[in-house]
Amino acid sequence: MIKLHDLYFKPFISEQEIDTAVQNMVDAIALELGDEIPVFIGILNGSFMLVSDFVKKYPKPCEVTFIKLASYEGVKSTEDIQRLIGLTQDLTGRTVVILEDIIDSGNTLEEVHRIFKNENVKQLLIATLFYKPEAYDKDFKLHYVGIEIPNKFIVGYGLDYDGLGRDLPNVYQLKTTQHMINLVLFGPPGAGKGTQANFLKEKYDLVHISTGDVFRYNIKNETALGMLAKSFMDKGELVPDQVTINMLNKEVEKNADAKGFIFDGFPRTNAQAKALDDLMGVKDSQINAMVALEVDDEVLVKRLLERGKTSGRADDADESIIRNRIKEYYTKTAILKNYYTAQDKYFGVDGEGSIEDITVRLNAVIDKL
Ligand code: IMP
Ligand code: MG
Repeated sequence: MIKLHDLYFKPFISEQEIDTAVQNMVDAIALELGDEIPVFIGILNGSFMLVSDFVKKYPKPCEVTFIKLASYEGVKSTEDIQRLIGLTQDLTGRTVVILEDIIDSGNTLEEVHRIFKNENVKQLLIATLFYKPEAYDKDFKLHYVGIEIPNKFIVGYGLDYDGLGRDLPNVYQLKTTQHMINLVLFGPPGAGKGTQANFLKEKYDLVHISTGDVFRYNIKNETALGMLAKSFMDKGELVPDQVTINMLNKEVEKNADAKGFIFDGFPRTNAQAKALDDLMGVKDSQINAMVALEVDDEVLVKRLLERGKTSGRADDADESIIRNRIKEYYTKTAILKNYYTAQDKYFGVDGEGSIEDITVRLNAVIDKL
């Protein structure tokens, strides 16, 4: 992922794919023109990289020149095309091939046709590396198209966003959801996960998705997914990952404008972690970190026994039960620790000391994501 000015872009078309597309255009044009010496005309600024690669590959003699037009502002095409550098040579009787980096609305192309209307060229051929069929609303024929792309804003390989990105050899696409912070939060019982989740939620404007709460909500409200989950639970079977993922997906969709999510109680297995990655991928996003509060067993036992005195929770009153829960936590999370470590996304945070100190440590980790 890259950031240009205020926007985030994700990898879209590789240097290799571009190279192949350029070569295919060269081959097609060379085949059609044979021994005729064409004049290739690049439309500046965007086409400089294409023109350079194109003419290096072109197998026969050719001429190269540029005209400079400007229409784009930010990420939108405008009607108003400015001619910044026009034609400087006589093209009477010549075969002219326009080399465009991208054809979007076709406004620029319309202007190109206007420029050539009185030039008496032999033929005017249009070649564009990228083409957005959904955006194009003109009737001019496009003789050669490298790669058709969806109607989304791209940068790289000559194309810019407000001046940046032209130098990139690969092409990137504007992310539909901008930068999110998505965390999976872990901590053994007594680590203060709930308390810290509340602070994180506030500070980073995140939505806290506790899988336990999501299940209870769906079952209580008898949603289709809730009933489905219940049917497995009633048979004493594990709820299939896909059902859980679908519930989480609903929560993610309910909060389409969220700055990010804290997943709590999920994932529990490699397969679930993978499914969560896929879910985030569909949203053009990702899990940024597994944050695990690390607290010494003896401290946890002390904290929970203390809590048991006031909470009345039976499982907080018995030391051997407490130790078992802690042990179970480590057995279960070990797999996930490995999963996220392999992606460089595991962050253990010292969960001992005052609540404020722990919050400061968590913030330090998240601020660097
Ligand atoms: P059109 O006039 O709408 O066809 O747009 C053509 C010009 O707009 C191109 O030559 C580019 O300079 C610019 N443009 C169109 N789409 C994009 C894009 O996705 N990224 C960057 N520039 C673009
Ligand atoms: Mg252009």
